[in-house]
Amino acid sequence: MLELKVDLNERSYPIYIGAGVLADTPKLITHIGKCRPVIITNETIAPLYLPSLLEQLNGLSPLSFVIPDGEQYKSLTWFEKISAFLLEHNCGRDTCLVALGGGVVGDLTGFVAACYQRGVPFIQIPTTLLSQVDSSVGGKTAVNHALGKNMIGAFYQPKAVFIDTDTLNTLPAREFAAGMAEVIKYALIYDADFLEQLNELHPKLSQLDTSSLQYVIHKCCAIKAEIVAQDETEAGLRALLNLGHTFGHAIEAQMGYGNWLHGEAVAAGMVLAVKLAARRGDLTQQQVEQITKVIEKYDLPTLPPSQMNAEQFLSHMRKDKKNKQGRIRFILPTQLGRCALVDDVSDENVIELIGR
Ligand code: NAD
Ligand code: GLY
Repeated sequence: MLELKVDLNERSYPIYIGAGVLADTPKLITHIGKCRPVIITNETIAPLYLPSLLEQLNGLSPLSFVIPDGEQYKSLTWFEKISAFLLEHNCGRDTCLVALGGGVVGDLTGFVAACYQRGVPFIQIPTTLLSQVDSSVGGKTAVNHALGKNMIGAFYQPKAVFIDTDTLNTLPAREFAAGMAEVIKYALIYDADFLEQLNELHPKLSQLDTSSLQYVIHKCCAIKAEIVAQDETEAGLRALLNLGHTFGHAIEAQMGYGNWLHGEAVAAGMVLAVKLAARRGDLTQQQVEQITKVIEKYDLPTLPPSQMNAEQFLSHMRKDKKNKQGRIRFILPTQLGRCALVDDVSDENVIELIGR
C-alpha cells in the first residue's frame, strides 16, 4: 500500500492507495473516530461494495443511503433527500459521511458534508479511475444546477481518501478510458517523462495490472496534492488542472451530458489545446503527434464531434467559470509537460482551429 499526504495544515489528510485498502478495517475506523458512519453510494455500486463495508463497520452502527446512478442526481434535490435522511435518523455533528462511488457520489456527499449542521467530517472511497486520480482529492464538492454544471458547491476537504485499485475490476472499460484522460492530463501539465511512461505502460494498464495502477494513481495524486497544497481555492496554479476542460465542457454541454463522458470530452479538448499550442509555436508537430498517439492508444477520442462548429464551441466557452472580464481563458501547453493560463486566444484563432 502507498500513502500520500495532502498538506493543508490543520486540514491535512492522507491518501491510501493499493489493492485491498478498503478491507483495512482498523485504518478506516481510525479515521471515522468516534463518529457514526453514514455511507452514501449509488444503486450500481451498492451491490458490489456496500455489504462488505457495512459488515466491516458493524460495530459503529453504520447507516447507508443509496441514490440512483447518474449525473442528474448530483442535484439540490438529492442534496435535500440525503439531508432529510440524516435528520430523520437524528444524525448529529458526530456523523461521518462516507462517499463510496465515483465523482458523482463523491461531489454530492462532500457537499452535503460541507453543509450538514455547518459541516461534518467525510471520507472518500473513490471507485472509478477518474475519481481516484482527480475528484476525490482536493476538496472540490458541488451539485449541478439546471443552468450549469457544478455551479453550487464548496471547497471542503475530506478526512481521508481510500483508493482501492481492486474496485477498478468491475468498472466498465469506457469509464476506465475516461479516467485515463485525466491521467494523461497530469503528464501534459506536470511531467513529460510520465507521458512516455504511460505510452509504455499501456499493455499493463489495460490488463489492470495492480502495481502499474498503483504507480499511476500514486503519481497523479502526488501531482494533485502538490498543486492543491499550493493553491487550494484555485487562485492560480490549480487552474492548470483544467487543461482540455474549456473545449471539453463545451463538447459535453453541446452533445448533452452523458452522451460524451467527461473524460472523453476532456481527451478531445486536450488535443484541441495541444494543436492550438502548436499554432502558437509552443509545441512541435511531432509533439502533437506524440500526445495524440497516447490519447488514441487509451481508446479516447482525439477529434471533437464532427457536427460541432466553432460558433457552438465559442458560445459555450463564453460561459466558462475561468473567464475574466469577458475573455475566454484557456490552459495551453507552453512546452511538453508544462502548461499556462492564457487569455489572448481570439475568436478567429478558435474558428481557424475548429475549421468549420
Ligand atoms: P460517475 O460517478 O458517474 O461514475 C461513472 C459510472 O461508473 C457510474 O455509472 C457509476 O455507477 C459506475 N461505477 C463507479 N464505480 C464503479 C465500479 N467500481 N464498478 C462498476 N461501476 C462503477 O462518474 P465519474 O467519472 O467517476 O465522475 C464524474 C463526476 O465527477 C462529474 O460529476 C464531474 O463533475 C465530477 N468531477 C469532480 C472533480 C472534483 O475535483 N471534485 C473532478 C473531476 C470530475
Ligand atoms: N479537477 C480539477 C480540480 O480539482 O481542480
